Amino acid sequence: MLGMKRVVRGWTIVTPLIIMLACLAPVLSSAAPLAASAPQHMTLTWSSDPHTTQTIAWQTSAPCPAGRVQYAEATAGGGLPTNAATAIATGEVLLTDGGKVMIHSVTITGLKPGTRYIYRVGGETAWSELRSFKTAPDGIRPFKFLVFGDTQGYTYDVWRTVLRRAYETNADASFFTVVGDLVEVGQDHDQWDAWLGAAAGVIDAIPVMPLTGNHEYYTPLWGERSLPTMFTARFKLPANGPEGLRGQAYSFDYGGVHFVVLDSQAREGARFMPDMLERQKAWLEKDLAATDKRWKVAFIHKPPYNSKTARGNDDVKAAFVPIFERHRVDIVFSGHEHVYARTYPLYGEAVAAGPAEGTIYVTAGRSGDKARGKARAGDWHEVYHNPREEPNYIVVKVAGDVLSVEVFKLCGDLIDSWQIEKER
Ligand SMILES: [Fe+2]
Repeated sequence: MLGMKRVVRGWTIVTPLIIMLACLAPVLSSAAPLAASAPQHMTLTWSSDPHTTQTIAWQTSAPCPAGRVQYAEATAGGGLPTNAATAIATGEVLLTDGGKVMIHSVTITGLKPGTRYIYRVGGETAWSELRSFKTAPDGIRPFKFLVFGDTQGYTYDVWRTVLRRAYETNADASFFTVVGDLVEVGQDHDQWDAWLGAAAGVIDAIPVMPLTGNHEYYTPLWGERSLPTMFTARFKLPANGPEGLRGQAYSFDYGGVHFVVLDSQAREGARFMPDMLERQKAWLEKDLAATDKRWKVAFIHKPPYNSKTARGNDDVKAAFVPIFERHRVDIVFSGHEHVYARTYPLYGEAVAAGPAEGTIYVTAGRSGDKARGKARAGDWHEVYHNPREEPNYIVVKVAGDVLSVEVFKLCGDLIDSWQIEKER
C-alpha cells in the first residue's frame, strides 16, 4: 500500500496515503456553503443529572436565529409525534480562525429515567435527522462506558474508524470519554469540524464527557497558547468545577460511580491562571469528600505515573496523587503518552497490597493516528503496550462490586483484561 512516514516534533507518523486523501473530504466539505440555519455537529453531553436531563449542542453558521430541539419518548413507530415537546436553545457566537459560527445548546429537563427519547435539532428552515438518546436508569444498575486515548492527528479518519468500531461492538455503552488531546491544534476550527464530523453517528447517540489536553491550548500560531475556548464552547459539561475552570474540571455521577475530571495543563495555562492546580486541589478535596458512591474514577490528561522515556508530570503528581490516595480513588485514566499502560495499585509511591489499598493508574493508548516511536515501561507498570501498529480503545463495565476493564486493538484483539472486586 502506498504510504508515507515522517517524524514531526518527535512523533512518528505512519499514515497510508489513501487514508490521508480520504480524510481531506470532511475538512474540504466543511467549506461547502450551508443554509445559515443548517445544523451540524450535534453533540450530547450531560451538564446536569443523567437520569432526568440531556444536554444537546450543535453548530450553525452565524448569525442564525435561536435554535430548538423537538423531542418525544421513542415509540415502535419511530417517528416524531405531532405533540413532540420543544426546548428553546441558547445561541452564542464563537469567533474562530475560520470565521464566526454559532453554537446552540439546551439542557432538556424533566425526562423519565431509563427511557429512550427521539429528537431533532434546528429551526423553522432546517432540521437535523432524527436521532435518539437514553436517560440513565434509576438505582444502581450495571453499565459500561468507553475510554479513548488521544485522538489528535493530521487526519481524523483513524478516530472515525476506532470510535465506530468501539460503538458497533458496545452500542449499549452509556457514554464515552476522550482523555484529552482530542485535536492537534485546539484553536483550529477546521480540526474541530473534522473531529466532530468523524464522531457523527455516535456523539449524537450517547454523551461524550471529554477533558482537555495540552493540545487543546495550542493555536495555529506556533508556540502561542490560548485558553481552550473552542473546547469549552462546544462541550457543555457540568459547571460544578472551581472558579475559572468550569467545563474543564468537573464531576458527575453515573450508576455506582463518581467521576472526576481534571485539567492538567498548568504549564500551558500558566499565563492565564498561575494557580490552576491549586484551585483544583481545593475543589477536588471537597468533591471527593462529598460523594458516597462505591466507586471513584478520575480522568486527567497528563499521567501522574508516566513512562520512562516521557517527560514526567511531577506538578500533577504532587498536586493530585495525595488527594486520590486520601479518598481512595480506584482508577485514574490519563492520556498524553499514546501508549496503553497500567500500574500496579500504588499508594505512597509504593506498590500496595491490592486495589483496596491503592490506586491504579491507566494511560489509555491512542485512538488517533499519532503513534509514539519510543516508549518504555516504568517500574510501576504491571502492563505496558505501545499501540504503534494499531490504535486501541477501552471498555469499562461496572456491575455492583465488580469493575472490569478490557482493552482492545482496533482489529478486536485483546491487549489487557482486568478487574477490581470490592469487598463488602
Ligand atoms: Fe498531550
